[in-house]
Amino acid sequence: MSKSLSEMMQSWHLCPGSDSGAQIDALLAPLCARGVLPDGHESTSAILLGEQYHLGGAEDTRRMARLAGITAADRVVDLACYIGGPARQLARECQCEVVGVDISQVHIALAEKLTELVGLQERVTFMCESADALPLPGESFTVVWSQCPFPGDLSWLKETDRLLKPGGRLAFTGLIRRAACDDPALLSLDEISQKVEVMGFRVVGAEDISDMDLEHGWLPALAKLRANEAHYRELMGSDWVRKAGASIETDIMTWREARMGNGRVVAVKE
Ligand SMILES: C[S@@+](CC[C@H](N)C(=O)[O-])C[C@H]1O[C@@H](n2cnc3c(N)ncnc32)[C@H](O)[C@@H]1O
Repeated sequence: MSKSLSEMMQSWHLCPGSDSGAQIDALLAPLCARGVLPDGHESTSAILLGEQYHLGGAEDTRRMARLAGITAADRVVDLACYIGGPARQLARECQCEVVGVDISQVHIALAEKLTELVGLQERVTFMCESADALPLPGESFTVVWSQCPFPGDLSWLKETDRLLKPGGRLAFTGLIRRAACDDPALLSLDEISQKVEVMGFRVVGAEDISDMDLEHGWLPALAKLRANEAHYRELMGSDWVRKAGASIETDIMTWREARMGNGRVVAVKE
């Protein structure tokens, strides 16, 4: 982590009583402008989506939590947690304990700081590790959670199986192959469900959420960009705004033409 980032974070604070999400977005904005987030790479969607870097944001997290039946009795590991937005939401809304895992030191440093700012550090902790090999004991979680386009071969699922207690749930969202998709590396939702079942899990929910992600993810992201062009021009520059608009419009087209999409699987370890 660069010294300037840790120095910047030292001066961060949140005003109690005001919308903490909006305040966090404001804290993150200069980091996006400097290319610190997401981890030095340009990502249109990350910059527009803010604290939760997946389509559908907090509402999508709430929906997956309901499908997975997460309660205060659960200990959840969030694989590829980014800066911890969903992890904090799960702890706040379901009262569960969450361990967030991400491979980026910058993301983990920000996740820890934001969690401390909202006072959830007792229940939400983070580890900078690769999700496919975690230095954690087997059967130490009741839920493995992820909202991330992980490698399509699902090789990371082996670690999920090791980490989950029997009866625990796996809940994840990722890219799927759809009717007009030409990426041979992607699996269809049925193929993903079969792979999960072969590992000894019972799939209790498998859904193509592409239409929902279009409506609650891509279209609002484009609307946010268009409604706040002056703000993003000042923050990111005119070139970024132009490229961001074109890139989201392309994504919307690939989603509409069923060339790309997202699926969700919830399964119980038998
Ligand atoms: C799309 S973001 C995840 C968004 C996050 N789940 C959320 O909903 O806010 C992808 C994240 O995966 C992380 N990542 C990539 N490869 C990883 C790995 N092997 N293990 C853990 N994290 C990884 C990246 O650092 C990045 O933060």
